[in-house]
Amino acid sequence: MEMKKWFAVIGDPIAHSKSPSMHNAWFDDMNIDAAYIPLHVKGEALEMAVASLKTLGASGWNVTIPHKQTILPFLDELDSLAEKMGAVNTVVRLPDGRLKGYNTDGAGFVHSLEEVIGMDKKDQEVLLIGAGGAARGIAFALQQYGYHKITITNRTVAKAEEIIAELGEGEAVSTRDAEDSLNKFGIVIQSTSAGLANSEFKMPLSLEKLREGAIAADIVYNPLMTPFLISAQQKGAEAVNGLGMFVHQGAIAFNYWLGQYPNTNNMIKRLTDDLNQLV
Ligand code: ATR
Repeated sequence: MEMKKWFAVIGDPIAHSKSPSMHNAWFDDMNIDAAYIPLHVKGEALEMAVASLKTLGASGWNVTIPHKQTILPFLDELDSLAEKMGAVNTVVRLPDGRLKGYNTDGAGFVHSLEEVIGMDKKDQEVLLIGAGGAARGIAFALQQYGYHKITITNRTVAKAEEIIAELGEGEAVSTRDAEDSLNKFGIVIQSTSAGLANSEFKMPLSLEKLREGAIAADIVYNPLMTPFLISAQQKGAEAVNGLGMFVHQGAIAFNYWLGQYPNTNNMIKRLTDDLNQLV
């Protein structure tokens, strides 16, 4: 008899992760005999945790803060996008037992964006706000999916310049320059922690000159409507919240593990209801 498959998410903190309920709901919906559990793993315990997951036969797991970069030396193989990003959020145990790392965050963002705006807007000028780990993943994924007019702006411009240099195309600009030229962008992506519940920091830049009909996407999903999205909507933009990115990064991981793409629309609806009930 085949052993029951099991999966996990490792991170610190981990208690508030929505990944276990999402993946377990998909297993139920799809009649897959598997389980997904949250595991609290502190920084110094990472190497032993990976060895344990391997020994105990986990089929795969997700990796969250603070392990996305530090897990790299403990893996046997990296997908090319994960290698470029220098960060992993999904591990797959291959049939021969070797561990392969993927990063589905950036692709999750692009899937979520394209679910709303379609796949025919790749020639638009894109402004990416922020140059942290999340921005990096999104920048490389946008490029891989065919978006080549990418401008990155960040409080610390040098970090935006670094990502642009690695992409080998696009432009890095100051916050001021991004605000002044805002009307040229058809897609504006907010990838900093601005607007996150409990964050003091609300807006990464002024949307005064945002083009009417532009797409404004945020990676934050708690709250669903961030100050950035509210302000963008007031300027006549179409808002894409961060929940789709979360659900699609999970769906892409699920597909790497099990070879099936789960129903993302239903999950987005379900989680939207949950989040609205919190308000
Ligand atoms: P993540 O992995 O979530 O992207 P990160 O790597 O710490 O997190 O990146 C945080 C991003 O939010 C950065 O772009 C950061 O700008 P700096 O590179 O200048 O630090 C941005 N950020 C955080 N707090 C900010 C603030 N108060 N004002 C403007 N930008 C801020």
